[in-house]
Amino acid sequence: MSESARDLARKLLSGNGGGSVGGRTPTPAASVPSAGGQPSTPRPASTAGSGHTGAAGPRSSTPTAAAIRTVRGPGRQFADHPDVAATVQKQAAIAAISAQSGLVNPLFLPRTSPNDTVIRALDTELVNFSAYNYLGLSSHPRVVQAAKDALDQYGASASASRIVAGEIPLYGELEQRLAGIYDVGDAMVTTSGYLTNAGVIGFLLREGDVAICDSLIHGSVVSGTQWAGCRRINFRHNDPESLRSVLRMSRNGFDRALVVLEGHYSMDGTVGRVDELAAIAREFDCAVMVDEAHSFGVFGDHGHGIREHYGMAGAEVDIWMGTLSKALGSCGGFIAADADLIAAMKASAPGVAMLTGGPAPSTIGAALAGLDVLEAEPERVRRLWHNARLFNAALHERGLNVGESQGTPIVPVIVPGEIRAGFVSATLLQRGMYAGAISAPAVPVGKERLRFFITSEHTEQQLISAADLLAETIGLAENLPELAVAG
Ligand SMILES: Cc1ncc(COP(=O)(O)O)c(C=O)c1O
Repeated sequence: MSESARDLARKLLSGNGGGSVGGRTPTPAASVPSAGGQPSTPRPASTAGSGHTGAAGPRSSTPTAAAIRTVRGPGRQFADHPDVAATVQKQAAIAAISAQSGLVNPLFLPRTSPNDTVIRALDTELVNFSAYNYLGLSSHPRVVQAAKDALDQYGASASASRIVAGEIPLYGELEQRLAGIYDVGDAMVTTSGYLTNAGVIGFLLREGDVAICDSLIHGSVVSGTQWAGCRRINFRHNDPESLRSVLRMSRNGFDRALVVLEGHYSMDGTVGRVDELAAIAREFDCAVMVDEAHSFGVFGDHGHGIREHYGMAGAEVDIWMGTLSKALGSCGGFIAADADLIAAMKASAPGVAMLTGGPAPSTIGAALAGLDVLEAEPERVRRLWHNARLFNAALHERGLNVGESQGTPIVPVIVPGEIRAGFVSATLLQRGMYAGAISAPAVPVGKERLRFFITSEHTEQQLISAADLLAETIGLAENLPELAVAG
């Protein structure tokens, strides 16, 4: 190879100048649109329908320089993708503000301890309100030991999807207990709460169907409706009359309709009016799904969730969904429902059971032990509510704005303005307390807040000191000019 040919090859392989050889931009075959606007490259027959999107084995020929070039034109690269660009810009602005002000950036705070009421970070100890470890189970010795036992017996990974991996008894044991708690036919555990909502709704609904959602519903449900290709209509948060009027106007335009609610709303600390809303859904021949992510382990005398709280029958809701990652102190999701529905989803629902690995054995071992502790020590739930009442009362006494929250263990403290909320969070961090600031798009502009998760393990002294420090810091922040964080 001559020197100039070698240079050119090097350039092409490194991506520099690969887009232009001799002044012309080569068009890779894979990017030629077909009549339908899709890439014209045919899918290899061996992978069609298998769920794989890439080649199954080694490539048969060396990729062309054009196919591996890394520099693409404006609008074709990810660096100028609006969400990528806005996020990068915003994170840089936050880092710059932290650097200028000398305050620590509370985002992605490096932590070296369990996520308990006191955490170790920044070479110091912080009183922590940012963990939804409601019952202090994630580092409970029985939970940790059960995770270790499962790890020793079954290894670190399920290493395949359940349908072909062989079932380990831990899955079935947890599923039977969850089905019993919800008084329904069966249950299924999964690797992720987010994917459970997305995958279950993605599997059950399709074009011609509708999901009718509380306006504060979690993003994972929204993802599910996008996955499903169904319509999504919101009704006013927790408002039975709004649900009724949406159903009156729209129910007849769709085939299947699923009303989706939460037991305990994670940004606002409101309690889902699940019993009333489910009854209205039934009047209009709709199915009902309830997300118990923040209500399982929190509501009901035994922590069995919103069903126990309202004394509902299991069958009043079609799909009880929950997570293992919050009060149970582990990781993953679950649904509890009719046995046939669960059997179908276990065998066929992509992302929750099919085409995805089974949950790691240690996570299921931990969740089972978490459930054991919950059953053995219902006083944890009582302590949780005692602490929630104490903290809410302390905030009220100090005149702080807790929005629409209802005195539950999720306590939003409204600090309007992204900069102000960030300043309060960073100042608290400086003074030994960790509570996350939340801004748009997670909450509406002007309703920025700090969110406090109260647990059964906080002490009264921690709660009262936090309320004092918070009132003082919010007082300081009131004098700050409101600037928008770029992005
Ligand atoms: C209401 C709600 N549903 C689902 C999820 C997703 O659960 P996971 O974190 O277990 O994936 C969350 C997560 O915070 C949530 O708040």
